[in-house]
This record gives sequence, C-alpha cells and structure tokens, in this order.
Amino acid sequence: MGRKLLLEKANVPGIRGYDVYRQQGGYAAVEKALRMTPEEVVEEVKKSGLRGRGGAGFPTGMKWSFLAKPAGVPRYLVCNADESEPGTFKDRYLMEFIPHLLIEGLVAASWALGSNRTYIYIRGEYAWIVDILEQAIAEANAHGWLGKNIKGSGFDCQIYVQRGAGAYICGEETALIESLEGKRGNPRIKPPFPAVKGLWDCPTVVNNVETLAAVVPILNIGGEEYAKIGTGKSTGTKLISACGNINRPGVYEIDMAISVEEFIYSEEYCGGIAGGKRLKACIPGGSSVPILPAKLLLRTAKGEPRMMTYESLSDGGFQSGSMMGSGGFIVLDEDQCVVRHTLTLARFYRHESCGQCSPCREGTGWMEKILHRIEHGQGRTADIDLLWDIQRRIEGNTICPLGDAAAWPVAAAIRHFRDEFEWHVNNPEECRRRNYGLAHYADELVSALP
Ligand SMILES: Cc1cc2nc3c(=O)[nH]c(=O)nc-3n(C[C@H](O)[C@H](O)[C@H](O)COP(=O)(O)O)c2cc1C
Ligand code: SF4
Repeated sequence: MGRKLLLEKANVPGIRGYDVYRQQGGYAAVEKALRMTPEEVVEEVKKSGLRGRGGAGFPTGMKWSFLAKPAGVPRYLVCNADESEPGTFKDRYLMEFIPHLLIEGLVAASWALGSNRTYIYIRGEYAWIVDILEQAIAEANAHGWLGKNIKGSGFDCQIYVQRGAGAYICGEETALIESLEGKRGNPRIKPPFPAVKGLWDCPTVVNNVETLAAVVPILNIGGEEYAKIGTGKSTGTKLISACGNINRPGVYEIDMAISVEEFIYSEEYCGGIAGGKRLKACIPGGSSVPILPAKLLLRTAKGEPRMMTYESLSDGGFQSGSMMGSGGFIVLDEDQCVVRHTLTLARFYRHESCGQCSPCREGTGWMEKILHRIEHGQGRTADIDLLWDIQRRIEGNTICPLGDAAAWPVAAAIRHFRDEFEWHVNNPEECRRRNYGLAHYADELVSALP
C-alpha cells in the first residue's frame, strides 16, 4: 500500500465538515506556518521539491520565490480549479471529499506569499463543489482560520470562490486572470509573468488545487521528509485520475516510485484492462500530452521499466516518451481507433481555441477537418503528411501552450500509429460503414474543406 498524504483521511465519515477535519489534525499546518516567517514557509516548500501539479511541473518553492514584492502593492494567490483537461478529474475529488485540506493549504500559502485576498477560480460545471467550498470557507471563518487577525497573528486573509463559464482556455493562468478580472478569457503575452504583473496588474501566484493542498503535508511532516517520498525530482505523492478501458477507473494517490505496469495492472490501482483485452496505448497525463503505444508505455526506448515519475514519463522526449502533465491517465484497449480518438481531441482543441493566434485558430480547424475526412473514409495519403506539417507549424508559434496541446496529440498519433492512418486511407468503404451514423456530420465538414 503506497503512502497517502492527501487522501489518507478522505474516507473518514464527516471529514467534509470542519469538526471532524479538525479532530483529525486539520489546520495544524496553518498553526505551524503562522509560527514561522513567510520566508521560512517558502523555504520549506523549496526543500520539499514539490512540483506544480497543474501540468507543467514547475517547482513550486521557486515559483513562490519569484513573486515580486513592491512596497504598498497587494499580492495575490489564485488557486486554479478550472480542471477542464479531458481525462483529468483529481482536483474535483479532492475538493469534493476533503475541501478543508485545500482551504488549509490556501491559508498557509497565503501567509507565505502575503496574499490577503485569495481566489479559487473554479470551472463553471463544478457548481455543486462551489457550495462545498463556500461551506468550508464559512466554517474556516467561523473558527478564526480566515478573516482578520487570524489566530492573533496580525495576518488578514479572505478566500473568494469565482466560477468560470466553462472554457478550457481559462485554465491557462493568464487567461484565468483575465477572466477573474471580468474580461474574456484570452491568454496574455508573457513576459510580464504573473509573478510580476498578474491579477489587476499586481504580483500574483497561480497554483493548482493539488499543489496547494500538498502544502499541508509538507508543513506537517517537513519539507525534507516530504522529499524522501517518491524518487529523484518527483517527490511526494501525486494524484492520478485514471479512466478509459480499465477495470477500476478512479482517482489514486500514488507514491511516484511505482512503475506504469504496476499502476495499470495492480488491483490497488487500475486493476488491469477491462474485459481481459490487450493494452493498446495510453495518454498518461491528460489529453494534451503525447499518446504512447503499449510497448513504449511499459518500457522506455532504453528498455527500462517506465515509472510514474515526471522524469521517466518524459524519458525519450517526444520521440519515444510523453509527460506527467495533469495526471489524467487515459487507457485505450485493442479495440480503440487512434484516428477516431485523435479526431475527438482535435475537435475539442478547435472548439476551445480562443482565436488570438492564427496558427492555433486556423490550424486546429484544419487538423479537425483533415482528421475527420480520414476517419470517415475520404482521406488521401497526402493528408497524413499535411496533418504532420500543420501540427509542426502550430507548435511553439502561439501565445499560449494550447497550440502545443493541440499539436502534440496529432504528432504522437502519426508518429506511433501511422499504419492506422494509412489503413483508413486505403480502406475508405470500411471507414464509411463504421461511421454510418455520423454520415450527416461528415458531409457537412467535408464540403467545407479547401
Ligand atoms: C490551455 C491550458 C489549460 C490549463 N488548464 C489548467 C487547469 O485546469 N488547472 C491547472 O491547475 N492548470 C492548468 N493549466 C496550467 C496553468 O497555466 C498553470 O501552469 C498552473 O495553474 C500552475 O499551477 P502549478 O504550478 O501548481 O502547476 C493550463 C494550461 C493551459 C495552457
Ligand atoms: S494558442 Fe490558441 S488558445 Fe492560446 S492564445 Fe493562441 S489562439 Fe488562443
């Protein structure tokens, strides 16, 4: 049984409420933080080696130390609870079942960063979780963990929950800030980075829900102890939301020192492939990261067991590796069609592009159309190279990483499953037969092609 730091108490009856949470040792991390200086808290987080759990894996302590501190200017902490990446649903679990863990982490982090007004920006569809968070915030206020002069420390802090309107792009930190300011969620050009000019042009730290919740065990056990869990630069525990063709989909807290094979096949986690089928491929870190065929998923190109760490999942770069990303682990069995799957993702990214940059705005639409015609038996051999060319021209040429997120799944699908694309081109009748139910939609899209 792996060690649990975040979800250990998630099943304790009544843990959602303040009384039980407190009886179980809740808010001890805030008590500890308030006895330390803000700089000491930042130092502790640095020692822990914690990396941001929102996708990029940037070291949290380092990010916090970059926060500008001009005199007389407010600083803000913003919790990113947008969680719109397909396949990712770990933050929802944490907020729903143990909301005070997030509130506690937020109070401690607000102290460390000097944020008197802290925001939780949450995806609009999580309406019922807003109620849960509001309740936890009200309880924390009633017991003096929020508000004025928290526990006699002289520190004032309030947490506000803001619902988004259901746009994936609002999870990107600068789009999130724009949306929080009441504007359309368009990403900003960086620099300046939020640490210098963020919310209302003030220094701002944006962190993921899981990252901020992890501050609690880090303070409780100490940064050095936390760093001993996991391995290498993947310290602590990580929440993984596992879905797709597995026997036990769900949210798992893992010690990152386990192998991908163990994660997929052990009864403690995914419990193997559903229906006794064979594993075909997996997207290990949410829909934006490259898909890996089974062979490269279980072993790296060097023949070593692939581990559930940031380093191992990205071993081999994009040639033969992928990424930890947001921890959305999507498993595909032997019956799944990679072309159709890639089309589904392409449709999502086309829909979610904010439209500011031409390569992303136009390229995502082109990729969807071309994938659509390949999947529906109207593809040409040249389409595969055309797709490759388009994704290559999007990657790295846009304001925000949504462009990359749209390009990588297409690139990886062609890189590892080119034969499947070719099969579609060479077997148009079979494709049309399979897609009969979608024929109307297909015609619409195909007629719009250049
Ligand atoms: C299109 C897009 C969507 C994103 N969605 C999320 C999200 O839902 N939640 C999240 O924490 N980070 C998301 N991110 C990453 C954030 O921009 C940012 O890096 C993250 O919130 C930083 O938190 P961390 O350092 O704790 O990981 C997204 C990034 C992009 C480009
Ligand atoms: S990459 Fe796409 S989503 Fe990001 S700013 Fe450009 S157009 Fe908008």
